[in-house]
Amino acid sequence: MSRIFSGVQPTGNLHLGNYLGAIRNFVGLQDDYECIYCAVNMHAITVWQEPNELRNNTREVAAAYLAAGVDPEKSIIFAQSAVHAHAELAWIFNCVARIGWLNRMTQFKEKAGKNRENASLGLYAYPSLMAADILAYKATHVPVGEDQKQHLELTRDIAQKFNNDFGKEVFPIVEPLIFGEATRVMSLRDGSKKMSKSDPSDYSRIALTDGRDDIARKLKKARTDADPLPETVDGLEDRPEAANLVGIYAALSGQSKADVLKEYAGSQFSVFKPALTDLAVEKFGPVGEEMKRLMTDPAYVDDVLAKGAERASAIANPIIKEVKEIVGFLGA
Ligand code: AMP
Ligand code: TRP
Repeated sequence: MSRIFSGVQPTGNLHLGNYLGAIRNFVGLQDDYECIYCAVNMHAITVWQEPNELRNNTREVAAAYLAAGVDPEKSIIFAQSAVHAHAELAWIFNCVARIGWLNRMTQFKEKAGKNRENASLGLYAYPSLMAADILAYKATHVPVGEDQKQHLELTRDIAQKFNNDFGKEVFPIVEPLIFGEATRVMSLRDGSKKMSKSDPSDYSRIALTDGRDDIARKLKKARTDADPLPETVDGLEDRPEAANLVGIYAALSGQSKADVLKEYAGSQFSVFKPALTDLAVEKFGPVGEEMKRLMTDPAYVDDVLAKGAERASAIANPIIKEVKEIVGFLGA
């Protein structure tokens, strides 16, 4: 049977990219698959997090899942640190993954920046923990944004090497699920950079909690070129900012980019931006509102997380036991 696993880091500033690239896609999968959605707080601490903010941001990720429409009765929502299997399997995978594989990870290079010697060891081992997240449940499919593709390839390599080393088909070879018209939402200030939680400029991203005024202000300021919108998707080539806004419109309205251009070909951004603002407020606004409401009821969110952790452990515990026995850990 297929099983879905995905995670979002509780590092604050959840944005439109997180929503369109990942969280929104989680919702539709619930009807057909067993789904497990995690707030990956162990990944978050690979860079410094203030403990109270980490607690709050962990609830916020859970609230975002719920507000987007993940049903806690059907799907499992939990915090990574509450299930032992993640850390245990990550250690085993640290001994399976090769340093050369990790050296190729572009996210590490970006996040560590110039001062690589000073990055945490956890940041370097991050993809090995991510493989453990997924494979502790023998999940088969992982819905994510495009930026996670390389990490999922590493997950496949780790599964394959483990299976080979121990001569047993223990772990499935996972399939990424990267879909929709906005798998890589770009910064509103710079069409060559992805929209990210850590961009110092608030104007680079639309936050999940932004209201109409914020959304309108940010889209008005969003960088564009001076030309009207083209007639075809090919006409968006070499126009990264225009392509980004059309992609966001398409994703929010559930159309293809070609359909959006049929309606808006020849329009100036002075027309398109207000239309996009209205659409964003209509589709995205209620999610932010519900998330804010849920954050006023932390006891409810904590209860969802606690029940989720129990259900997650019930799946992961027998798998980690099996793996420890295969590895040769006595008293597993
Ligand atoms: P993170 O913010 O790194 O925890 O990412 C959580 C999820 O959101 C992952 O599935 C990412 O691939 C996705 N994501 C993050 N940023 C973007 C973006 N700019 N566009 C599309 N998906 C994104
Ligand atoms: N690395 C992912 C990100 O930054 C978050 C993540 C951690 C994840 N573990 C995962 C995503 C397992 C999917 C599956 O976006």
